Amino acid sequence: MPEPTAIVLAAGEGTRMASSLPKVLHRIGGQPLIAHVLTTVRGAGIGPVAVVVGPKREDVAEAVRESAPKARIFVQKERRGTAHAVLAARDALTGGDLLVMFGDTPLVRPQTVTALLDALKDSAIVVLGFRPADPTGYGRLVMESGQLQAIREERDASPAEKKIDLCNAGLMAFSGQHARSLIERIKNNNTKKEFYLTDAIALARAENLSVAVREASEEEVMGINDKSQLAEAEAALQKRLRAAAMQSGANLVAPDTVFLSADTKLAKDVIVEPYVVFGPGVTVQQGATIRSFSHLEGAHVGAGASIGPYARLRPGTKLGEKVRIGNFVETKAAEFGKGAKANHLAYVGDSTVGKDANIGAGTITCNYDGFNKTKTIIGDGAFIGSNSSLVAPVKIDKGAYIASGSIITENVPADALGVARAKQQNKKGWAKNYRALKSKGKPKK
Ligand code: UD1
Ligand code: CA
Repeated sequence: MPEPTAIVLAAGEGTRMASSLPKVLHRIGGQPLIAHVLTTVRGAGIGPVAVVVGPKREDVAEAVRESAPKARIFVQKERRGTAHAVLAARDALTGGDLLVMFGDTPLVRPQTVTALLDALKDSAIVVLGFRPADPTGYGRLVMESGQLQAIREERDASPAEKKIDLCNAGLMAFSGQHARSLIERIKNNNTKKEFYLTDAIALARAENLSVAVREASEEEVMGINDKSQLAEAEAALQKRLRAAAMQSGANLVAPDTVFLSADTKLAKDVIVEPYVVFGPGVTVQQGATIRSFSHLEGAHVGAGASIGPYARLRPGTKLGEKVRIGNFVETKAAEFGKGAKANHLAYVGDSTVGKDANIGAGTITCNYDGFNKTKTIIGDGAFIGSNSSLVAPVKIDKGAYIASGSIITENVPADALGVARAKQQNKKGWAKNYRALKSKGKPKK
């Protein structure tokens, strides 16, 4: 028997999103909806995957390739219903069992998928059902003496059928033996004149094939059709991610205020203070503290480091052990060696900072001239005095000092002092004379 195949449908227009971005490219947990679905498929151990996209949707295809490079992409030229969409991927039906998933249903757990496929041992079709608080809009599962007889879409349901609270979650498994012949026979005699995949149930029952239902929670199978549902799914995902982070040993002081991405990695005993945002691609090693109001993205934080409050770590930031990044410090494509510090008000971009180096308040690496970005290299133990501008490309060698307020345009050798500012002069009595001049003729207070 060929192995099971998954077909993910993502050709819908998503009109209800009222957006110029296709529905499945909207993000939760920092990743497009479609990527979450593909992660679930992978997690369930399904190898061959096909994704059905709409015409001229190179953007969706690109997101698919990024998250599942081996997925086959099929184009549904006209949007004529979910069964029509499955048949757009006809070439992917190899005779093995078939799992159909929707690209707009991102929170399904891999074990739910596995359970559906396992249940195909005794049934030709297995449908995933759920009981939503408000069933409006969902297909209803019409049961008779414990057997699923049909799925009725909202538009075509009778008032009695509309009262059914068990609904179609959208996930369906078909046994390899019956998948193709059932789906090919689906007709479009319904209000919308679409080919509904859900009609496969009635066809199977007419042949006395058995159809089973498995149930999932609403939270797991919620489909996203508009932006309110997108926000609800985000909230549900955040809950899951926070719970998982705490389970693996991170301390989230006020979990509801921490925003995580699906790929955020927090090691044991990482402390996250209230109100922190983790964009995609962040790893934090053991015992580091991320203080309030910090924003991290594409950054690696070493063990025991301390970040924030109010720090911004941008992509390409790599911080070694015990690095300290304080308030109002922004880093981008910057590598900090063990124990290096930038405690206040600095921008460090396209730079390497050696171990135990100290970046003073107000230091700016001037890495961009409007055309190119160039590097700043700061050696181990160097000390950059406050309010200095380091104009790249430039190298401050090991142990060098930069005098406060300097604008450094040339390399500074190891252990030297780099000074680049006007010399101070003090004019004796100047202030006193000035005041006297200004107050001449004015009445004394
Ligand atoms: C669908 C189900 C409904 C179920 C609900 C669960 C059908 C007919 N209806 O309704 O029973 O309760 O999901 O959320 O299956 N798509 C295509 N091409 C098409 C049409 C749809 O690729 O021609 C894709 C969409 O991109 C989407 C999925 O199929 O990912 C479902 O389509 P959608 O229009 O959202 O169906 P619902 O009305 O939500
Ligand atoms: Ca939907």
